[in-house]
Amino acid sequence: MSLIFELSKKGLKSFQAPPLDVPRQQSDLPANLRRKTPLRLPEVAENQVVRHYINLSLKNHHVDKDFYPLGSCTMKYNPKINDEIAGHSGFAALHPKQPTETIQGALQVIHELSEALCHITGMDTVTLQPSAGAQGELTALLMFRAYFIQRDGRPRHKVIIPDSAHGTNPASIVMAGYDVVQVVSGPDGLVDLDSLKKILDGDTAALMITNPNTLGLFESQITEIASRVHDAGGLVYMDGANLNALMGIARPGDMGFDACHLNLHKTFSTPHGGGGPGSGPVVIRKFLEPFLPKPVLKIKDEHFSWDWERPDSIGHIHSFYGNFSVMVRALAYILAMGRDGLRAVSENAIINANYLRVRLAEHFDLPYNRLCMHEVVFSGSRQKAHGVKTLDIAKRLLDFGFHPPTVYFPLIVSEALMIEPTETESKETMDRFVDAMKRIAHESETEPEQLKNAPTATPVQRLDEVAAARNLDINYFAQPKTSAKRG
Ligand SMILES: Cc1ncc(COP(=O)(O)O)c(C=O)c1O
Repeated sequence: MSLIFELSKKGLKSFQAPPLDVPRQQSDLPANLRRKTPLRLPEVAENQVVRHYINLSLKNHHVDKDFYPLGSCTMKYNPKINDEIAGHSGFAALHPKQPTETIQGALQVIHELSEALCHITGMDTVTLQPSAGAQGELTALLMFRAYFIQRDGRPRHKVIIPDSAHGTNPASIVMAGYDVVQVVSGPDGLVDLDSLKKILDGDTAALMITNPNTLGLFESQITEIASRVHDAGGLVYMDGANLNALMGIARPGDMGFDACHLNLHKTFSTPHGGGGPGSGPVVIRKFLEPFLPKPVLKIKDEHFSWDWERPDSIGHIHSFYGNFSVMVRALAYILAMGRDGLRAVSENAIINANYLRVRLAEHFDLPYNRLCMHEVVFSGSRQKAHGVKTLDIAKRLLDFGFHPPTVYFPLIVSEALMIEPTETESKETMDRFVDAMKRIAHESETEPEQLKNAPTATPVQRLDEVAAARNLDINYFAQPKTSAKRG
């Protein structure tokens, strides 16, 4: 397929700008930073632009095209109406520096979303500033640090995570200046309480735990775990990125958590993983409120304003107030679904994952074969015995038009295949997926080469993923054209 630059023909245009009706202004940029030559943009007609990008999008896999069961990512189909609402000029054309008198409606959106998230999680208050789950984790840990310094005069130095933890957890802990301490999971895939008891002490700042965990299992001893940590003087943090499994059924606040982040870009109607803005609000208990990032939204006599006088705040962690358009989508989604609708989302996410668990159990190893929550983790060990790697299984799925599941995570499952169907998929779609997986299981025994050479039906075959990530080739003008082998 040609690049858009290769379609360029001098004089073609896709737009018509109105004539300039204001005085032309000289740029304030220093002369050495200004362009010497005009920007080399492709010159193409409107239909070329549309067709080019439609065709390009069809070469990729996306949830608008077919099933995307990428475990731990909640790649569900999001209603387009919420994009439309977020794009309304009353929201999209606001400037964050506008006087608050002129943005009362937008502040009301932030306020109502905050209330809804506290209600859904059973927590007291929230910051909407973090722009991702990982940044939410860091924000909460910085608040914990500030809290301990105020309470005990020292931050404590250990944060405990299970061996099934998501990779962002240890990274956030280190960034917040804490040491990572790992607690093992028992044979049931849940945190081993006895091991936890042994490592809890007066240096434990927190336990950070995902519930449901990354095996898709609900930590059934969570209230006991939380009280053990509290008895040691520590705090309990929930990585709530998997809230899609809990809404309307169970609340972090009732499980004993002190803080929890949510991924609006997974659970609440913003696409996850598209490279666009996300939002990782942190809901907390009242006693942590003084440490919230500032400014904090306040309401007096039905008038919203920003409170900057927060002497104990950890400071500002995002420009302005967070990613507002993601918040608009989330509120629109929550209001449209209502309490019963959100519960139905979680129930159906759980039912769908269990449907796949049961239908595929005969064909793939299932290290933890019991009722799961929103995702199920298989192992490709049986296929490995035939020389087929889990990566081969993932690549072969592309030939059948499906996005592969997450592979090789969580780390405690060898040859892991982590499947999250989400509530938005029908039985018919999951049945097609089951058929493809069964065929792959069969091929691994009968024609393993087929899998090792997969994918063959995609625009490009196997890529050198390390080189693709390390030697990015995205500048048309900077690269020698001969190196560009494009499908
Ligand atoms: C369990 C878990 N924790 C944390 C995160 C990190 O979220 P983000 O990618 O928004 O930083 C994810 C990502 O999906 C996740 O699945």
